[in-house]
Amino acid sequence: MAYLELIQIEKHYDSFHALKNIDLLVEKEEFVVFVGPSGCGKSTLLRSICGLETVTSGKIILDGRDITGIHPSKRNVAMVFQNYALFPHLNVFDNIAFGLQLQGLSKADVRRRVERAATLLHLETMLDRKPKQLSGGQRQRVAIGRCIVKQPKLFLFDEPLSNLDAKLRVRMRVELLNLHYETRNTVVYVTHDQVEAMTMADKIVVLQDGCIEQVGSPMDLYERPVNKFVAGFIGSPQMNFLEGRGSGSAGGETLFVSGGLGTLKLPLVAEAVKTDQALTVGIRPEHVELEPGPPGCTVKAVVNIVENLGGETYLHVEVAPEIPLIMVKLHGSRGPGRGERVVLQLPADKIYLFNAEGSAIPVRLLN
Ligand SMILES: Nc1ncnc2c1ncn2[C@@H]1O[C@H](COP(=O)(O)OP(=O)(O)OP(=O)(O)O)[C@@H](O)[C@H]1O
Ligand SMILES: [Mg+2]
Repeated sequence: MAYLELIQIEKHYDSFHALKNIDLLVEKEEFVVFVGPSGCGKSTLLRSICGLETVTSGKIILDGRDITGIHPSKRNVAMVFQNYALFPHLNVFDNIAFGLQLQGLSKADVRRRVERAATLLHLETMLDRKPKQLSGGQRQRVAIGRCIVKQPKLFLFDEPLSNLDAKLRVRMRVELLNLHYETRNTVVYVTHDQVEAMTMADKIVVLQDGCIEQVGSPMDLYERPVNKFVAGFIGSPQMNFLEGRGSGSAGGETLFVSGGLGTLKLPLVAEAVKTDQALTVGIRPEHVELEPGPPGCTVKAVVNIVENLGGETYLHVEVAPEIPLIMVKLHGSRGPGRGERVVLQLPADKIYLFNAEGSAIPVRLLN
């Protein structure tokens, strides 16, 4: 039995169907990240787990106990929000201790727990300060400290770092991960940030329109997306898509026809592709090469825009006027300039195919 089980969760807000048949298992000590476009139901699902929303139907089991109908305060879960509200008139110690004093713990126990949390969060020298004397990151750590001391069975984080500046986000991300490694808490974490999802998660859950699209490790989702939506959502910059049609096969190769491109011979066997079916070819910017390499196919292009970031360079190239620009990610700062002609190399083992419904089509390499 998994530590947290969501079983056939449905949530309706009047006529709006916000969560649709959600089934999810979370193991003890796992760090699970929810991602998906704005409005897809991430917060609703998190709030349902902690009890701030009541689900319309379905079951939530935590550590063997059905908590579906239990009051939020009795579920033994703690939630950190994007807008962490601290009490301005209380110092850090009392802000962290707040929930404990309500639980009726002895003074010595409260002090022990607060001091341990403060040490974990590097707040031990700030216990006497008021929130207004803290930086944004320090305040966020106080909010997390308040959860830690409750020793909940489950931590729920709803975009906890999104109010912090870029530098602080990176630091807090590392601190949160360290905290997770030290305390081995079970965490469900919502974020919009690709890097947070890819680096923090043991398991990523991709949501769209209230449904789970795919669950898997970050590399599972990156390497084996089940559909075009997940392929486009995981990975930054996002995967390039070329729209066209299948045109049978020649010598085992799959033929792909696209308006401005003509026929591309993909050195891939894709038995499921029928002649004249709508087909999308997907390739990630970091997998497009400009020098001949492993077997694949080639596409002529002209560089339209160059974005040089120092450590890496993004080229936006035009392959045909009617086709959206393709993005190429290069290491370093050297590369062709605007207007230069290039030949894109698409390695066969990095090419994805999707059908008209967006589902990934199984392929194998020729030979
Ligand atoms: N109380 C409510 N009444 C009606 N609709 C609601 C309510 N709360 C949320 N919704 C709707 O449910 C959907 C899911 O909302 P939710 O807050 O879970 O999205 P989210 O994935 O967290 O988005 P974001 O990334 O913007 O935070 C949205 O379309 C939202 O408008
Ligand atoms: Mg939200």
